Amino acid sequence: MKAAVFRKYGPPDVLTIEDVEKPAPGDDEVLVRVHATTVCTPDWRFRSAKPFFFIRPMIGLRRPAKKFNILGLEFAGQVEQVGAKVSRFAVGDRVFGSTGFKMGAHAQYVCVPEYRGLAKTPDAVTDEQAAAIPFGGISALHFLRRAKVAAGQKVLIYGASGSVGTYAVQLAKHFGAHVTAVCSTANLDLVRSLGADYAIDYTKEDFSSDGRIYDVVFDAVGKTHARQSVRPLKRGGFYVLVGANLSAILGGIWLKLSGAGRLIGGMARALPGDLDLLGRLVAAGKVSPVIGRRFALDEIAEAHRYAESGHKRGNAVVITEEK
Ligand SMILES: NC(=O)c1ccc[n+]([C@@H]2O[C@H](COP(=O)([O-])OP(=O)(O)OC[C@H]3O[C@@H](n4cnc5c(N)ncnc54)[C@H](OP(=O)(O)O)[C@@H]3O)[C@@H](O)[C@H]2O)c1
Repeated sequence: MKAAVFRKYGPPDVLTIEDVEKPAPGDDEVLVRVHATTVCTPDWRFRSAKPFFFIRPMIGLRRPAKKFNILGLEFAGQVEQVGAKVSRFAVGDRVFGSTGFKMGAHAQYVCVPEYRGLAKTPDAVTDEQAAAIPFGGISALHFLRRAKVAAGQKVLIYGASGSVGTYAVQLAKHFGAHVTAVCSTANLDLVRSLGADYAIDYTKEDFSSDGRIYDVVFDAVGKTHARQSVRPLKRGGFYVLVGANLSAILGGIWLKLSGAGRLIGGMARALPGDLDLLGRLVAAGKVSPVIGRRFALDEIAEAHRYAESGHKRGNAVVITEEK
């Protein structure tokens, strides 16, 4: 099978398209013929070893360990083979899911455990859409849940045009919140089309100085500063750091210590049924995966450049099927 392979850390050009052995499913695994995958934030962070103190101890100090030579966390496709103990999936099922930090989806086939990170793709959802659900969708869902976002609350989503941000806007609206979305000029129409009640252009305005107060300030890209977490937050409100920087972390710690607000961070985790829930919401047209650009597998380096630019719109989808 064809796969995008990386054997050393570096720029997108370290990726090469190679013929590699097709994986074989274990007893509790499903072999998926991948039709679409994405380049999401962990892909380019692994490839470039950024930040090195986090990535290198995790996947290889000098070079990535062999088991990480194929990146790719999200996928959608069709079940080609099932292990002896698999009961939830059958050959021919359309499925989508996440390999987590095991990666491996930038290939024409991937093996995944039936009980972790795999769901059936609803008929109304395309493979391109389905591949773009798990990373942003699960992350947004996890952090909105922890911030107890509910009907009538005022929620600010900072960095509303990225993978996590576009889902956070739509899911917060789905939960009944009043959503203010912060993005650049080029993405104002996009976030409004996703349902944002109010949009702020971060290149022209500081969201924290217009006097508006929020129950939740949700930083989807880790680019807010300490003072921005304090000023617009209702007393006891949640400051969510999906991504983080030192200033934001210090602001969040101050909020917590002073009792003025609550800080939420850490790693997103899926609950059983979350992928099915997101699939249903997409099928019902309540949530729409945003696809900024599409690439073929042999354009994987270009897809990494786009994802790493910091200005990706929603998701970068890679089609693995050959034309
Ligand atoms: N804790 C966790 O479990 C977890 C889970 C998922 C993601 N993350 C982290 O969350 C962050 C976001 O991930 P992602 O994949 O959603 O990112 P992404 O898709 O790459 O985000 C790109 C978006 O960020 C926007 N952006 C860039 N600079 C901005 C700024 N100064 N202010 C506002 N928006 C800005 C861009 O919009 P413009 O082009 O308009 O600037 C672009 O649309 C990453 O750091 C990732 O590592 C953490």
